[in-house]
Amino acid sequence: CGIVGIVGNQPVSERLVDALKRLEYRGYDSAGVATVIGGKLERRRAEGKLVNLEIRLREEPLAGTIGIAHTRWATHGAPTERNAHPHFTDGVAVVHNGIIENFAELKDELIASGAKFETDTDTEVVAHLLSKFRREGLGRREAMHAMLKRVTGAYALAVLFQDDPSTIMAARNGPPLAIGHGRGEMFLGSDAIALAPFTNEITYLIDGDWAVIGANGVHIFDLDGNVVDRPKQLSTAAAYMIDKGNHRHFMEKEIYEQPEVIAHALSHYIDFAGNRIKALSGTIDFAKIPSLAISACGTAYLAGLVGKYWFERYARLPVEIDVASEFRYREIPLPSEAAALFISQSGETADTLASLRYCKELGLKIGAVVNTRESTIARESDAVFPILAGPEIGVASTKAFTCQLAVLASLAIGAGRARGTVSAEEEQVLVRYLAEMPRIMGQVLNAVQPKIELLSRELSKCRDVLYLGRGTSFPLAMEGALKLKEISYIHAEGYAAGELKHGPIALIDENMPVIVIAPHDRFYEKTVSNMQEVAARGGRIILITDEKGAAASKLETMATIVLPDVDEVIAPMIFSLPIQLLAYHTAVFMGTDVDQPRNLAKSVTVE
Ligand code: G6P
Repeated sequence: CGIVGIVGNQPVSERLVDALKRLEYRGYDSAGVATVIGGKLERRRAEGKLVNLEIRLREEPLAGTIGIAHTRWATHGAPTERNAHPHFTDGVAVVHNGIIENFAELKDELIASGAKFETDTDTEVVAHLLSKFRREGLGRREAMHAMLKRVTGAYALAVLFQDDPSTIMAARNGPPLAIGHGRGEMFLGSDAIALAPFTNEITYLIDGDWAVIGANGVHIFDLDGNVVDRPKQLSTAAAYMIDKGNHRHFMEKEIYEQPEVIAHALSHYIDFAGNRIKALSGTIDFAKIPSLAISACGTAYLAGLVGKYWFERYARLPVEIDVASEFRYREIPLPSEAAALFISQSGETADTLASLRYCKELGLKIGAVVNTRESTIARESDAVFPILAGPEIGVASTKAFTCQLAVLASLAIGAGRARGTVSAEEEQVLVRYLAEMPRIMGQVLNAVQPKIELLSRELSKCRDVLYLGRGTSFPLAMEGALKLKEISYIHAEGYAAGELKHGPIALIDENMPVIVIAPHDRFYEKTVSNMQEVAARGGRIILITDEKGAAASKLETMATIVLPDVDEVIAPMIFSLPIQLLAYHTAVFMGTDVDQPRNLAKSVTVE
C-alpha cells in the first residue's frame, strides 16, 4: 500500500525502510526492498511488520545507492514473502500499488510465450511484460511505454532495470505518486509524508503520467509518450510532527487533538466576529441547485449521512446518498443542475473517485470534502472544502470524522442562508453553538475518560454489541459500531432505534450490551421507548446521553455516560467522543494493534 524510491549517491536501503515506516499508517501485511549492486538486482522481503524486514536486512544487509521499496496490502495472493514486492523477472524489479485488471489475460499470454510465474500476484505480469519487451530489443523507456499501453486498471508503479543503476521509472494511474527533488538525489513516494525527511519540493504525477527519474532530475511523459510539465510544489508535510507525543497510540493522540483541529477547521468556514458562515467564493451555488448527491466510503460515508440530515433540515435540500461502491454502479438519474459532494479523508479512495467521475459526466457541480488538498479527488472537483484535520495516522478515523462533520454543518447552514431557509438570526445562533464546540469537546474528553475506561473492560468481554440511535444519532450509532469492530474485532452493529423491533430485538439477551446514543433532543422520548423494549427482554443498556436525558431516564442501565446539554447542531460531534474512546479503550484492553488493525488499510485505492 506504499511505495518509495531513492536514486542518488549514498546507500539507500536503511533510508527506504525509514520512509516506508512513514507510510505504515496506510496499512500493509508484507514489505520488501530492492537495489541494484554491481549490475545485479538484489532484494530482501518479509511477511508482516516492517520490523521483520529490518531483521532480514540486519542479517543480510543490502548495499546500493538506488532502490525501490514497498509495503503490500494483499489483493491478489496471500500476504506471504513469496508474494511480497519487489517482483523480479529477467533483469527487472517492480513494485506496484493498485490492481492490474487485465492481469489474467496478460498472464495467459505471457505463459504461452514461455514466462514462468513465481507469485500469485497481478503485479508480476508488469515485470514479465517489461522483460519480454527488453528481450524483443526495446530500450528501457520504450519497454516501459509499451508495457503501460498493455496494462489496464489502477496502478502506481516503480521499476528498476538491472542494466541501469542510475534510473528509477515510475507510472501512475489511480494511486498517488509524488516525486521529491533533492540535491544530487531524487525520491519517489506514495505521498509527501513519506518523503518529508528528504525534501519538501514535490512534483505530483497525475493519472496517465510516467516518469524517468535520475539523481539530478526527472522527465515526465504522458501515455502517448509526449513530454509533459508538472509543477514543483512546496509540501507542508514536513511541518507536521508524525509522532505520538505523550500518547500510547496515534489514535489516542488524534482523539485528544479534536478540540484544536475542529477550532482550526471552523475558523476556515466561520466569521467569528460576525457570527456568520463565510461566503465561500467560487464554489457551489447552493441557492440554485435542486438537490445534492453525497457519496463516500467507511467513516466518511457516515459523516455524509449526518450531513444529509443537516442539508435536508437547514437548507431544505433533498439529498441522495450512498456508499461509493454502490453509488458508482447504480446508474442514479441525477439532474445536471444538481451538485454532488464527495467526502474523503485521503482524497484517493478509488470508489469515491469513480462516483465523482460518474457525476462529473452527468454535468453536476462537484464539491470535495477532503483532508488532503493535493489529492486526486480535490484536483478533480470544482470546489474543495478542506477539513484541515492535519495528517491522520491511525487507520480508524477519529478527528477526520468530526472535522468532516464540522465542515458539513457549516456548509448546510451556509446553504440554508443562501436558500432562505435559515434566517440571519438563526444563523447567528447556530454559529455560536458551533463556536462553543472546541471548548465543550475539551471538557468532555477529560470528564468521560475514567468512566469509559472502566466500561471498556466490560465491553472487551463481549462477543457482540448493538448500537442504537435516532436522527443524527443513527449514523453515529453506525460509526460507534464501525469503530469498535475495526479496532477491537468485536462484532458490532449500528441500528436506527426504531428498527430494533423489526429484527435485532431477537438478539437481545443479557450477553449483548446495547449502547443507546440518546441526547435529550426531539427524539429522546421515542428512543427511551426503544430502550424499554430492550430492558423488558433482559438486555443490558449503556446509555450515552446528556444531563437532561439522564435526569429524565428512569431505566436501570449497565452504565450511563452523561455529557453536557448541547444544541442539536453540535451533538453529533460531541457524542462522537465517548464512542471513539469506548472503542479505543476496549481495543487497548484486548491488546490489538490499535493504529494498524488487521486487514485494514488507511487509504483504499482499489475497487
Ligand atoms: C478505509 C479506511 C476507513 C475510511 C475509508 C474511506 O476503509 O480504513 O477508515 O473511512 O477507507 O477513506 P477516505 O480516505 O476516502 O475517507
